[in-house]
Amino acid sequence: MTNFLLNAGNLFSDGNLLSHSKLLTDGIDLVAVLLLGLGIKGLSKVRSARGANQLAAVAMALAVLGLLIEIRPEPVAWLWIAAGSAAGGLAGLITAQRVPMTAMPEVVALFNGCGGLASLLVAVGVALFDSADADIVALVSIAISVFVGAITFTGSIVAMAKLQGWLNTPAWTQSSLRHGVNIALAVLALVGAVLLPGDPAGLPLWLLVIGSSLLGVGVTLPIGGADMPVVISLLNSYSGVAAAAAGFVVGSQLLIVAGAMVGAAGLILTQVMCTAMNRSLLSVLFGGALGASGATVGGGGSEAGYTRITSCSPEECAMALEQAERVVFVPGYGLAVAQAQHALRELSKLLENHGVEVSYAIHPVAGRMPGHMNVLLAEADVPYEQLVEMDTINPEFPRTDVVIVLGANDVVNPDAKSDPSSPLYGMPVLEVDQARQVFVVKRSLGAGYAGIANALFELPQTAMVFGDAKAVLNGLLSELRSMGVGKAKVAA
Ligand code: TAP
Repeated sequence: MTNFLLNAGNLFSDGNLLSHSKLLTDGIDLVAVLLLGLGIKGLSKVRSARGANQLAAVAMALAVLGLLIEIRPEPVAWLWIAAGSAAGGLAGLITAQRVPMTAMPEVVALFNGCGGLASLLVAVGVALFDSADADIVALVSIAISVFVGAITFTGSIVAMAKLQGWLNTPAWTQSSLRHGVNIALAVLALVGAVLLPGDPAGLPLWLLVIGSSLLGVGVTLPIGGADMPVVISLLNSYSGVAAAAAGFVVGSQLLIVAGAMVGAAGLILTQVMCTAMNRSLLSVLFGGALGASGATVGGGGSEAGYTRITSCSPEECAMALEQAERVVFVPGYGLAVAQAQHALRELSKLLENHGVEVSYAIHPVAGRMPGHMNVLLAEADVPYEQLVEMDTINPEFPRTDVVIVLGANDVVNPDAKSDPSSPLYGMPVLEVDQARQVFVVKRSLGAGYAGIANALFELPQTAMVFGDAKAVLNGLLSELRSMGVGKAKVAA
């Protein structure tokens, strides 16, 4: 900002606009930073998230434009930047169109890795080819950028590979041996960082690169199960820190500000996720996998010895819905897998036409990423005001006639409140067990993400409706229609 005002002062003192491309680029950078800030702020609300994302994309395009103007006399650099932006933009476009919502954590991990790699390459490039006159601030920035960038890159790639099921957790990483290995790698990186100012393009740089890259693998490899998305969020924060450090390396204020914002936003999100899952960040990072998350990532698990299960058909469930005055739907990961959001919206419209009060209970970590259920339901045009956060809806369950749990499991597990031996104990959950009648729609008695049994399934007020969420919802729709539910109200 100060630079911008100083340059503006210069402009008006000699009036030569064209010779002041610095003013123009500072101005563009300032607008880009403001748009990025507004974009990040807008992402906090479902209603404004789509526009906010577009604002942030415009900010990034402006940043590239500013750079192109700044280095105007260098056509080769222009070509590289234009080609890099086009290739990156195309890859982003294809990924955004092709990747299903359920695979979003893997994509975020990959993108974080790309951010870390970019910062790492910038810092290594400057260290190798442009560090002769570098001052101590630049050298320290190079060390930080290499250290954090390398950890982010390799850590994110390991996280993505684990989520994809390409990589398992090796047994040795579950023992205390891993702490020894990680400490040794950290010391190696530290030695490189300390020696770097004396010989920026020599051996210390490579000690730092190798030590931090392996450390990224070493700290991410033992983490698994439900903790992985927390780690991805943390790596997202690291990618911001690495970018900010790279900003110091190349003297880009825009990169420093944008990196700091991403770093802070990632850290806040990490904290929110830890709170919602009742995990401390330290236990995620140093405790290895969550007790229960030795289970396969993505759920499954065994059909854990249930003895008092009541199941019913969609027809019986439809009869309960027809009688109800107030219905709450609880969406979970299985709803996203079944892509049943449109069928759900149709069912709720039918019930609303019948005079039923309908709402959706949103748990902060339902699904596989923050805001997963909000985005899923927004796809089906569910009105935002019907999405009710956990703290608001929990006191409403005792006056709810029917709760339909759709492909959710861990987030409605009452053991999280009552069983201190449960790995979920202490995690805030949707208290659906307080409702008069609960129908749980899922394909089997299989476990959810945490890999544990769910006491809700055996409660007297609970009935299981086995089947794919979309098939069951379509079944409910046709049952209700055959009962004349939609028609009755339309006629009235
Ligand atoms: P989960 O506990 O994972 O349960 C999902 C259930 O969906 C499974 O039990 C599965 O049972 C069912 N299902 C799968 N496909 C289905 C289909 N086609 N039709 C119907 N049901 C289907 O989901 P949740 O309750 O949403 O909880 C989320 C979990 O992920 C929590 O443990 C949370 O801590 C963890 N997690 C979330 C996040 C974020 S940020 N959202 C981050 C990290 C971890 P069947 O196989 O029997 O059908």
